Amino acid sequence: MDRSPFYTMDDFDFNGKRVYLRIDINSPINPITGEVVDDTRFIHYLRTINELKNSKVVIIAHQGRPGDSDFVSLRQHAGHLGRLLGRDVLFVDSLIGSAVETAIRNMKNGDIIMLENSRFYSEEILIKDDGTAQKNTFIVRNLSKLFDYFIIDAFPAIHRDQTTLTGFKDIKPNIAGRLMETEIKSIDRFMNSKSHPKLAIMGGAKIRDAIKVTGPFLEKGIVDNIIFGGVAANIFLWASGIDIGKRNMEFIEKQDKNYKKLLEECKSLLSRFSDRIYLPEDFMLNPLQTEIKTGEKVQDDQLLADIGFESIKTFSSIIEKAKNIFLNGPMGMYEINEYSLGTREIFNAVSQSPASKIVGGGHTINAINEFGLSDSMGYISTGGGALINYLSGEPIPVIDSLVYNRKKFGGN
Ligand code: 3PG
Ligand code: MG
Repeated sequence: MDRSPFYTMDDFDFNGKRVYLRIDINSPINPITGEVVDDTRFIHYLRTINELKNSKVVIIAHQGRPGDSDFVSLRQHAGHLGRLLGRDVLFVDSLIGSAVETAIRNMKNGDIIMLENSRFYSEEILIKDDGTAQKNTFIVRNLSKLFDYFIIDAFPAIHRDQTTLTGFKDIKPNIAGRLMETEIKSIDRFMNSKSHPKLAIMGGAKIRDAIKVTGPFLEKGIVDNIIFGGVAANIFLWASGIDIGKRNMEFIEKQDKNYKKLLEECKSLLSRFSDRIYLPEDFMLNPLQTEIKTGEKVQDDQLLADIGFESIKTFSSIIEKAKNIFLNGPMGMYEINEYSLGTREIFNAVSQSPASKIVGGGHTINAINEFGLSDSMGYISTGGGALINYLSGEPIPVIDSLVYNRKKFGGN
């Protein structure tokens, strides 16, 4: 087998060592109670942490983004992880400083500490990696002296160039954790598969990500065809000159203040790849739950809430023929029962397909769980944006950092 381009946990003996462990347990938070409502990501880290049972493990993670209601302390994350592990996880409510240093220096083998949300510190988000800037942050200067090894296992955040992810690559070996390894192997299998047709199904509301990867997906032949649903489909329809109605346009404008640029990108993609992009032929409208054909008049107050029956039929027959399927994003407002049919039927079609399958994205996984399909959807990734960015074959900051680090510390 080829040598991994980055270090893995097989390359070092961590017994008795102090280990920096960057994970991604960024989770949905109930906006009223502030509680973590889904612990899927936590569960994926049990393997990496259990393998380090004779080390001193310090966990670093982030939660939410400044200004959002899910931007909360990691105190409850530490408690929850401890319960899942059946071990104590001591929470220290800062990321750097003397309390952190003392706690870490006093650790014994088998101890686990979790530090505070790394995004509480502006150096985490604001300082981009230009070769020296991250290295000079207080975060890196404070933490680098405390560890023997740096394990980076935050697969869902590999597309982020942030200090606790990429800032330590010049200090000591940076090692991919077990989640990272599993994810990359599974995604590479999809990318390297020679079985065609390869199909991507993209929906949901994250239009920027979906549009950004469409070019690379189709140009590089990573997939042969793409089906769009959800808001992603709406912006492509808008770009092609179709009336999608006032409320749907306003929704897109609110989603992304650079929507005009996105519209231009969609236009160019449609002109280059019109025969490989599939958009809904009909919709279910909210309110009223009536159906219209794409292009028919949408009233000012109406939302395109789900794909219609013809679209379900066409998309399902494309899915039936596919040999490899990548699924990311619901077809409509699946959270509301009356508008969940499109998503349900498309996800059912994927689940019944014998193709090799890979799925990701918070809403997608939530819908899969709700529909009771989690055992038949193929490989379920912990990544959303991370997954589609990795699949697009474009440079990925955390992967690049790990590869650079192995070259630096391990020779060629
Ligand atoms: C995610 O959930 O997408 C990752 O944790 C990265 O978070 P971000 O999208 O807020 O950067
Ligand atoms: Mg994200």
